[in-house]
Amino acid sequence: MTNGVDISIEFAGLKLANPVFTVSGTCGYADELADFMDIKSLGGFITKSITLKPRKGNAAPRIVETDSGMLNAIGWANVGLDKFIEEKIPILEKMNTAVFVNLAGQTINEYVAVTERLASQSAIAGFELNISCPNVEQGGINFGTDPKQVGEVTSAVKKVCGEKILMVKLAPAVTDISATAKAAVDAGADALSLINTFTAMVIDIETRMPVLANRTGGLSGPAIKPIAVYLVNKVYNDVAKGGGIPILGMGGIRTASDAIEFIIAGASAVGIGTANFMEPDCSIRIIEGIRQYCTRSNITNIRELVGSLSLE
Ligand SMILES: Cc1cc2nc3c(=O)[nH]c(=O)nc-3n(C[C@H](O)[C@H](O)[C@H](O)COP(=O)(O)O)c2cc1C
Repeated sequence: MTNGVDISIEFAGLKLANPVFTVSGTCGYADELADFMDIKSLGGFITKSITLKPRKGNAAPRIVETDSGMLNAIGWANVGLDKFIEEKIPILEKMNTAVFVNLAGQTINEYVAVTERLASQSAIAGFELNISCPNVEQGGINFGTDPKQVGEVTSAVKKVCGEKILMVKLAPAVTDISATAKAAVDAGADALSLINTFTAMVIDIETRMPVLANRTGGLSGPAIKPIAVYLVNKVYNDVAKGGGIPILGMGGIRTASDAIEFIIAGASAVGIGTANFMEPDCSIRIIEGIRQYCTRSNITNIRELVGSLSLE
């Protein structure tokens, strides 16, 4: 508590100093970001997606800037589970913040195998199940768009994740996001995170070819923010509020006022992604801005703000 304002939160049973996370794929395995800021100032930290085997990811070019955003087609480039346990867990252990490991896989067995090996690691507070990546051919988003498959992968991982929190990351480009959110919660998700990126394309008009070697990539950044706010509010009203399930809201946040919009829409916590590439320590500024907003709005506890959208 500072200046009579409490911005600490409870997130699926975890006590966090504040509601701000950095999100998967935009802050490495923490040591990269630790060069720019004190990681323990964050409410939470989410690792790059981890797969059973190391992955080189897609061919370059795999990022391109767009108006108010970027496309990425990284394709789960990561060190793989063995190296993650050997080299990255010792770093994460020292970070003194709530660490979530983002899990990815091409089959349910792969998700389960990764979770089983990580479930006993004390450095990990929880898992974020990535079933919404648009940049891999098999797995990824294929699981996240069909409520039946969302339920199957969530319940399989829930069975082996022990005491760790299980957060499911939802795909935004679906007909009814509340159906996939409900499937995840019914299958045992303790929290929901949204949104992942939207499949999109940029064309070089001289070559008439897609700029990205993968042809398409995931759109992130301020361009997607109003859609993300809407989807958070929808999932909050239809699924999360009634079930007492916390939402980690993300998509284009780069200022404290962006973050506050998500909280008013129903997010208990917020995630910072693309903005880290322009200003790696922007989370610190956002945490301070949230505190200042609460002070000037006479909000003594940030939890009062969650889902406080006024329709009159
Ligand atoms: C370069 C880049 C890499 C990403 N890699 C991952 C990833 O490995 N796993 C994942 O679940 N999401 C990944 N994402 C998606 C982000 O975690 C986030 O859901 C999305 O970018 C929306 O937030 P933002 O607009 O603040 O970036 C990535 C995003 C970017 C820009």
